[in-house]
Amino acid sequence: MTQQMQPSAVDGLFNHPKTLPTWLLYDDAGSQIYTRITGLPEYYLTRAEAEIFAQQGERIVERALAGAGEVSIVELGAGSSEKTELFLRAVVRAHGNFVHLACDIERGALELGVARLREAFPQCDVRGFVGTHEAAGAAIAELAGRQLVLFIGSSIGNLSDEQATAMLSALRARLRSDGGLLLGTDLKKQPERLLAAYDDAAGVTAQFTLNILTRLNRELDADFNLEHFRHVACWNAQASDIEIYIESTQAQTVAIGRVNRTVSFTAGERVLVEISAKYDLERVERLLRAAGFERAETFIDSAGDFAVHLARCVPLGEP
Ligand code: AVI
Repeated sequence: MTQQMQPSAVDGLFNHPKTLPTWLLYDDAGSQIYTRITGLPEYYLTRAEAEIFAQQGERIVERALAGAGEVSIVELGAGSSEKTELFLRAVVRAHGNFVHLACDIERGALELGVARLREAFPQCDVRGFVGTHEAAGAAIAELAGRQLVLFIGSSIGNLSDEQATAMLSALRARLRSDGGLLLGTDLKKQPERLLAAYDDAAGVTAQFTLNILTRLNRELDADFNLEHFRHVACWNAQASDIEIYIESTQAQTVAIGRVNRTVSFTAGERVLVEISAKYDLERVERLLRAAGFERAETFIDSAGDFAVHLARCVPLGEP
């Protein structure tokens, strides 16, 4: 299920500065382009996180599930569950069978992922949930035994710290006090490497960003000319975020049929479509604390590029 486009999706084009919601990146074409991004030489994130699960998975499981009997694992934004399979293999080796709940708003990718995991772990109970993280809350709360939630793939980086805190707090409220969280975050590093990862030589990330305009043309009857816009990735050192923009290369006016409005751009005017936060441990700890978790341990890949943090619930009512 591709998230349904409401005309309000383009409200941010009428603000100053202009913005568009990040979820617009993920229609079917966008999801396929993102899969290509994950294999690009410059985009180290996916490989680095997969290495952590492949090489340190058993240690993570030992730490996360020490003393647990029955285990329920949840993945938020599960997609096709490739890296998750690596982790679940480690769960079976180091702990035993599990219940797994894969959650995603994209039905197609989720169904593939669930099928893959059912085939890989026929002895386990693998379930799928189509919906937002918030909607998944009730299903998570019902899971028996030790609950361990995976929010990996640097997905948290696409949220502002405020949004991330709100999302993690809502999750914390659904977990029992022995529950845990595995959080995947990209690490702060030289801006040159970050910029290359978000503006690759083959132009795949540019295609990913500009696909939003194709989507607006199709779904909201807009007339964006993709030749007159370009993808721009910037490093915001103060915020420690990569920022992705669609930039108008000339002064122009675009009609958006479904909202019966036109939107004007000056030459060089930018529309913010995505942030991708790059963390140090302090920022991660601040986020977790604010949401009712505490960092227990951090697992980093051999190149020092990416981190998976194990966090435990702080009992509710404690500061
Ligand atoms: C999905 N998310 C973690 C990606 C990221 O790295 O922030 C999205 C992405 N945008 C451009 N390249 C990748």
